[in-house]
Amino acid sequence: MSDNSFGVNHLAIIMDGNGRWAQARGLERSAGHKAGAENVLKIMRSVKEFGIKYLTLYAFSTENWKRPAEEVGGLMKLLKEFTFNQLPAMQKEDVRLNAIGRLDALPDAARLGLLAAMKATRNNRSGVLTLALNYGGRAELVDAAVKFAQEVKAGRVAPDALDENMFEKYLYDPELPPPELVVRTSGELRISNFLLWQMAYSELYITDVLWPDFDRHELQKALESFRGRDRRFGGVKK
Ligand code: IPE
Ligand code: IPE
Ligand code: MG
Repeated sequence: MSDNSFGVNHLAIIMDGNGRWAQARGLERSAGHKAGAENVLKIMRSVKEFGIKYLTLYAFSTENWKRPAEEVGGLMKLLKEFTFNQLPAMQKEDVRLNAIGRLDALPDAARLGLLAAMKATRNNRSGVLTLALNYGGRAELVDAAVKFAQEVKAGRVAPDALDENMFEKYLYDPELPPPELVVRTSGELRISNFLLWQMAYSELYITDVLWPDFDRHELQKALESFRGRDRRFGGVKK
């Protein structure tokens, strides 16, 4: 349990709608991604203000490589710029930058910038900003299964010792608690391969607001919706 009034310790967001935001303004999709990236630190600050320790943002999925090379390149460039430009703000906010996904496949410039910012912020304690990058829920489960199989093969663990608690140790970040609340902006009613294991019992909140427009007020609405939920975890109504 968390110690804030909304009862959310980990908020995860599917940041969708950058393209539609740009289109509505007659701009290139890249302008939407830029506006989306600029929203990240603002939301991080509001998240902290609402007493939420962990913020996880879906920034690039394992399926997003299907987009035109120019768009993918632009997103990777934005990632590099984000980790460089926002580093002072993350230090000031005492936020640790973290990442989940198949990071090895990110282009060097983006990956090295990311790793440098993660290293520079590793002792920050007031919050954890996790970027899901080249992340897929299925890929994470497959990667966990491979790591487990390697441990079995090396004779370090018995195959039938596996249970849910042990399996979680093989996820990208075993320290990351499951999100109480998952928000998706832009109205699509789907998960798009996000945190498949971790969101088994997360509450979902979907808003039509596009990611670059999702602000403190919209966040508060999501948290208020969460506060009114009856979370049963398969049990009976309290
Ligand atoms: C989300 O915005 C950003 C990423 C997936 C990287 P989109 O680019 O998916 O925006 P829409 O869905 O086309 O509006
Ligand atoms: C989900 O958005 C992925 C991220 C926000 C990074 P998409 O725009 O890629 O999802 P679909 O294609 O609408 O399912
Ligand atoms: Mg989208």
